[in-house]
Amino acid sequence: MIIGVLTGGGDAPGLNPTIRAAALTALAQGDQVIGFLDGWRGVQRNNTISIDLAWAERIYDEGGTNLGTSRTNPMRSEDTMNAVIENFKAKKLDALIAIGGDDTLSVAAELSRRGLPVVGVPKTMDNDVPETDYCIGFDTAVNTVTESLDKLRTTSASHHRAMVVEVMGRDAGWVAGIGGVAGGADYILLPEEEPDLEALYAHLETVRERGRSYALVVVAEGVQLGNMPLPENAKTDAFGHVQLAEKAVGETLARLIEERLAWETRSVVLGHLQRGGSPSAFDRVLGTRYGATAVEMAHRGEFGQMVVIKGWQLSSVPLEGIAGKTKTLDPTFIKQARGLF
Ligand code: F6P
Repeated sequence: MIIGVLTGGGDAPGLNPTIRAAALTALAQGDQVIGFLDGWRGVQRNNTISIDLAWAERIYDEGGTNLGTSRTNPMRSEDTMNAVIENFKAKKLDALIAIGGDDTLSVAAELSRRGLPVVGVPKTMDNDVPETDYCIGFDTAVNTVTESLDKLRTTSASHHRAMVVEVMGRDAGWVAGIGGVAGGADYILLPEEEPDLEALYAHLETVRERGRSYALVVVAEGVQLGNMPLPENAKTDAFGHVQLAEKAVGETLARLIEERLAWETRSVVLGHLQRGGSPSAFDRVLGTRYGATAVEMAHRGEFGQMVVIKGWQLSSVPLEGIAGKTKTLDPTFIKQARGLF
């Protein structure tokens, strides 16, 4: 087979082990592997590399994606969509493995609707792609948040400050919720819930009355504080998403806490650190299993599907059913986490 691979959307640790496993599995069966550079832009512009064993075998511990990525959306016009389809056919691809989040996978679903053989692999540190327990990059991001909270605890305690830590998570609070609990946060604000600032202030007061001089608050970037407006001219990407970091929810919350509780408060935006660095053991193994399974699916002719993991078991679901949907943080987990505050 001739198998194409691309990585689209925000990068995430675990992409390289995924590409590696797809390539090694395909090459071992005598396939040819073509890498498209910078996500859908590479297909649109016919920008490719040939992936051989030497290119792929050593990248299991590398962060980012060695194929590059972008937020290119070929669905923006029929011309760009046609360019993608023409280049797909010109390369005589028997399968294209598209590794990405909702945006990348929605393009994959559209190509599949148009009859092209596509297999999807869920990647996003936000972990919000439905039908799968884990997306590539989530575990490493949670580890980064946990380590950051551990570090922020000592500086906050030394200065007797409250610290607001803004983490990624546009529509879902997986990183905020799981990272916050792992790092012992005193309060977590999630995009899944209306922020209850009175409850936050009351809890921080209780913490202070108990004799603790510092507090850690985690807030997901997607949390909307009242009718806090977006800054004028806030940037959007090709899929129409506003750059939420510009909203500065962490900094706004820090000011509110400081004013209301007269407690010196600092804010930190963890930002792209959450997407950087070497993938965790979990993300390396998850990516490896996803990459190998995607090639096996291509060989079985299982197209228009996305590989998923439930517990330890791998299976697949139709791409059609996942595009445009968000998997929000498990309500049972939210309830248990709330019980801690
Ligand atoms: O990959 C998803 C995401 O991490 C979001 O949580 C965040 O809002 C966005 O990417 C930031 O992306 P960019 O790299 O374009 O700043």
